[in-house]
Amino acid sequence: MKAQELREAYVEFFKQRGHAFIRSASLIPENDPTVLFTTAGMHPLVPYLLGEKHPEGKRLVDYQKCIRTGDIDEVGDASHLTFFEMLGNWSLGDYFKKESITFSYDFLIDVLKLRIDQISVTAFEGEGAIPRDEETAKIWNELGIPKEQIYFYGRSDNWWGPAGQTGPCGPDTEIFFDDGRPKCGPGCGPSCHCGKFTEIWNNVFMEYFKDADGKFTPLEQKNVDTGMGLERVLRIMNGQETVYDTELFAGIIASIEDITGKKYLEDKRAFRIISDHIRAATFIMGDGVVPAKVGQGYILRRLIRRASRYLSKLGSDSTDMSRICGVVIAEYGGSYPELERNRDAILANMAAEEEKFHLTLRKGLRRFDEMAEGHAAGQTLDGEQVFRLYDTFGFPIELTKELAEERGFLVDVDDFDRRFREHQDISRAGSDQKFKGGLADNSEETTKLHTATHLLNAALRKFVDPDIVQKGSNITAERLRFDFNLDRKVTPEELKQIQDYINDVIRRDIPVVCEEMQYEEAKDRHAMGVFQDKYGEKVKVYTIGDVSCEICGGPHVNSTGEIGGFKIAKEESSAAGVRRIKAVVGKFD
Ligand code: ALA
Repeated sequence: MKAQELREAYVEFFKQRGHAFIRSASLIPENDPTVLFTTAGMHPLVPYLLGEKHPEGKRLVDYQKCIRTGDIDEVGDASHLTFFEMLGNWSLGDYFKKESITFSYDFLIDVLKLRIDQISVTAFEGEGAIPRDEETAKIWNELGIPKEQIYFYGRSDNWWGPAGQTGPCGPDTEIFFDDGRPKCGPGCGPSCHCGKFTEIWNNVFMEYFKDADGKFTPLEQKNVDTGMGLERVLRIMNGQETVYDTELFAGIIASIEDITGKKYLEDKRAFRIISDHIRAATFIMGDGVVPAKVGQGYILRRLIRRASRYLSKLGSDSTDMSRICGVVIAEYGGSYPELERNRDAILANMAAEEEKFHLTLRKGLRRFDEMAEGHAAGQTLDGEQVFRLYDTFGFPIELTKELAEERGFLVDVDDFDRRFREHQDISRAGSDQKFKGGLADNSEETTKLHTATHLLNAALRKFVDPDIVQKGSNITAERLRFDFNLDRKVTPEELKQIQDYINDVIRRDIPVVCEEMQYEEAKDRHAMGVFQDKYGEKVKVYTIGDVSCEICGGPHVNSTGEIGGFKIAKEESSAAGVRRIKAVVGKFD
């Protein structure tokens, strides 16, 4: 089975069962700005899981590109991936356990043609006030999965979410492929890591909301959120040993062999790291991110630089990574047209970043060797020199840590962070914090900030430059942050004009009107946000008088007066050619 066949079979199966197909959202969360990347199919859908109406209805299906950064350093083994595709289907307050499990069963048996003995499933064993999920087990059993293939586990295995600190969550039923080998011991089951069982699908019954105090309250709207790992299923369908053996990596690995003159079998780990990192980097750049010291750009830089070091380890002295990006684009451009569209920028950014790092990589590695000479294994490397590697040679701290680990040294990361902060660059620490943060909630405050962001976007184009577009947006309960393209400072006069204008719009208490329409119609109306791939889809358009018209998932205030007031707190540079404004809302005297 080919990857595209699997995507199509999945989407088609759920379309036939009343689901509307939605396109993959960007890897950069649009409505959930407190996480760096989209990590699951449900991320872009959080407002709808919390009760916002989705323009395409209550049953959705998609394949979503995802990035998980927690495991970057694990990449190189047989299974970890930074980028992966998640096939997903959702019920937004529509069907629940019975239909969801039946759909999964039918897809696995009728479409993928798995045998019952190849499927094991799990259910939540209950904890505190939340009962054991006998209903799920019963449904599976009635469909034909024998009791011995149904396992109960606790919260760490059979509970999913919230994706952040607060949000929708619930018990899940996970579906595992059993490769038929004997159990490795008496306790062996789906939660065992011996390799016999591979998780392929997760159906989450999102019936609770977890609040900031850790309390679970039943959600008014009960949802189903599912996720199936495309790479894993593809591997299983084709009887391959690892995800790297699938067709998705064949071209990438061949191009690395070509560039380095080495064979995959000679150093599988290095090949996997390079393949994974360049694939992820290509997708991240395809969504408009450029290498930087902060946020998504920092992760991108880390991926590119680590891949570059491994290429160099394989003996490649050339800077050919953009060639490998080209192979990724060829593999995926059909399913993710943004890659084709942004091809030039992807290749140029990759080449520039690689070039930049390549110049210092050798020198930095020499410096590392010199530094290492003065230390015995088990010793902690000198903090100042570690910082120099970052500051002068562009070594992300994670890279230095990896080099140190390879030779048995330690790195004092706290010491690094202290020096880092002393250099008045708290950005990396900031980006790490973001991983721990929760998704944006739908609270009153964030809703006001969200509408204020639309006003700011419009005002910038009105008073500064009509070509300004959003490059990033981040909303916390306290403030909004908006990044946009501009290669100069916004002057204090312009900032005052913008602030006065927005306050005037707030004073006029203009209604915020939400309409659902076909994407093409929104485009005809010149709604902002049309850079997305939403052809043929229904979208929501929020219009604020003649001030603003944007495609957006919401939520927003009902009329601008609710915002109270608007104040710009800061204007600064964010990256080359990108400026950033932070602003707050509320009543100001
Ligand atoms: N959101 C669920 C997951 O990521 C489906 O596993």
